[in-house]
Amino acid sequence: MTWKLLVVNGPNLNLLGEREPEVYGAATLNEIITDLTAYGAERGVAIAHFQSNVEGELVDALHRARGSADGIVFNPGAFSHYSIALRDAIAAIGIPVVETHLSNVHAREDFRRTSVLAPVCLGVIAGFGAASYRLAVDALVGCLEARPAEG
Ligand code: DQA
Repeated sequence: MTWKLLVVNGPNLNLLGEREPEVYGAATLNEIITDLTAYGAERGVAIAHFQSNVEGELVDALHRARGSADGIVFNPGAFSHYSIALRDAIAAIGIPVVETHLSNVHAREDFRRTSVLAPVCLGVIAGFGAASYRLAVDALVGCLEARPAEG
């Protein structure tokens, strides 16, 4: 079975590599996605990727995933902490979503400890740098393979 996973990255993540490297690491988003695509290929997982700094474009990407993705790795950036629109979109699409962060949001400023998205996600992975994305892929594949067959 080839699983189709969509990786969605939110605001400011296009600047990875140059943005606060002491917090988010030295890898660029392109490098992370290239690595993840190779990691997925070894496991029979096809990776598609979308990044936007615009909340509505992220909502649209989640809607488009209906019928085209089995699961979503989602780093919503700062929107994690306050976007009810993204929370409603995740709840609406009925696709498992893993909220994913490079940094350990619980070890940083107080406002980063709250996620309005986590309650409607399958789970949350945070604090492992670029490896957080690989862990999210593993979590989704494990969940998809444990699901009872339809029909
Ligand atoms: C982040 C954590 C968020 O709090 C922050 O706003 C980001 C990146 C992370 O991957 O660690 O933009 O989602």
